[in-house]
Amino acid sequence: MTGIDYQSKIPNNVELGADRRLQRALEQWQPRFLQWWQDMGPDGFQQKDIYLRTAISADKDGWAHFDHVRMPDYRWGIFLSEREPDRRIAFGDHIGEPAWQEVPGEFRTTLRRIIVTQGDTEPASVEQQRLLGLTAPSLYDLRNLFQVNVEEGRHLWAMVYLLHSYFGSEGRDEAEELLQRRSGDADKPRILDAFNQPCNDWLSFFCFTMFADRDGKFQLASLAESGFDPLARTCRFMLTEEAHHMFVGDTGLERILRRAAQLTKADPNGNARALGGIDLATIQRFINFWFSYCLDLFGSEVSTNAADFFGAGLKGRFNEEKRYTEHTALGQTKTLAMPRGGVLVPEDVPLRNAMNEVLRDDYVDDCVNAVRRWSKAVQAEGVDFEVKLPATRFHRRQGIYTGSHFDLDGNAISEEEFDYHRDEWLPSAGDLAYLASIMQPVYEPGKIANWIAPPRRGINGQDFSYEYVRL
Ligand SMILES: [Fe+2]
Ligand SMILES: [Fe+2]
Repeated sequence: MTGIDYQSKIPNNVELGADRRLQRALEQWQPRFLQWWQDMGPDGFQQKDIYLRTAISADKDGWAHFDHVRMPDYRWGIFLSEREPDRRIAFGDHIGEPAWQEVPGEFRTTLRRIIVTQGDTEPASVEQQRLLGLTAPSLYDLRNLFQVNVEEGRHLWAMVYLLHSYFGSEGRDEAEELLQRRSGDADKPRILDAFNQPCNDWLSFFCFTMFADRDGKFQLASLAESGFDPLARTCRFMLTEEAHHMFVGDTGLERILRRAAQLTKADPNGNARALGGIDLATIQRFINFWFSYCLDLFGSEVSTNAADFFGAGLKGRFNEEKRYTEHTALGQTKTLAMPRGGVLVPEDVPLRNAMNEVLRDDYVDDCVNAVRRWSKAVQAEGVDFEVKLPATRFHRRQGIYTGSHFDLDGNAISEEEFDYHRDEWLPSAGDLAYLASIMQPVYEPGKIANWIAPPRRGINGQDFSYEYVRL
């Protein structure tokens, strides 16, 4: 077990005290992080006691500690998974060489960019979610929101640790800029588009934690394979935190869908909105929106960057070491449907260049499993409705399908046709206004908003009616 030192100013399991220069640099960054948290973290509730979990060790059983704490007192820190003795690079052109403990000079710029791009998503999501506490459907959900928020804050710490330790003054500058950019800001936006989208209602929040945090899982998992060992170990630990975020999104959507089905049945006209709920068609539109934005996070289907990352041993496939036997990805191809003059033409692309698409495929499979479960939950309520994921070509802003138009099944259509169906396929202004009208907070222990079902169980063995947040 890797113990975490909670006695130091910055909790850590990397013997920070042994590196005075690094410790001082991070101690200087700490108050700026806290200032950012005050400015851009959850609006309100900063003085309230929240039932939060804290890591006590960095292995997968290290999540034993739950307690009521104020968010600013959360022990953000630097936790890496245990170092594997004699770890070797498992894929790409450097296969079999010892994993790097320092940044190889030739990959310095590339690695820094990978870390900054990942790091930027962490504070971005906290900014996107900062007002949601004001409209929480229950104390259980409020607590989950804050748990996700403090852990995204810790993920920022994880990336800032790498920047400060391994990238000199450039790394320190990048760490500052991670606190300067703002989600949705016209002048200094966050790096990736999905992290600039507003997330002002709880349906969006659950879609976000389902789809964007799940992108996080796949990005972190592919970086956990990295030949740069400190990055791999950092990401392995982050993945243990990510699991709860996806749980929040997955079960949150399931609960909204289940409630939508109940209200659909209860209303004589089958209209869930008439009873103050969210109708199934609206939920489907939000799924279409967030799924398509999150697919963009994987990057273009054909990408020389992706090929370079893989060749260099910086970013592998999902579970590269465990799942594959061939780790060079040379002399192989992947067939993609390329848009050529309004029609789709199958073309073979060198496998390394299609690595973004390979990772996206695994992500989609993961999403498909969840959607199947949701459909079953809806049907178990006696409503004949199937939740569907749109085709991966639908509504894309990144990659080879950008600028072309497709329907939900992935058929090429004209721009006029797309515009005609837009409000049927994606959240409309009316949907957003309706959601805003029903997002009223429910803060009484054991009570819940009408548009969502209570969870099947509480957190850490507590009941749903437990006082997760002391107001
Ligand atoms: Fe994260
Ligand atoms: Fe997350």
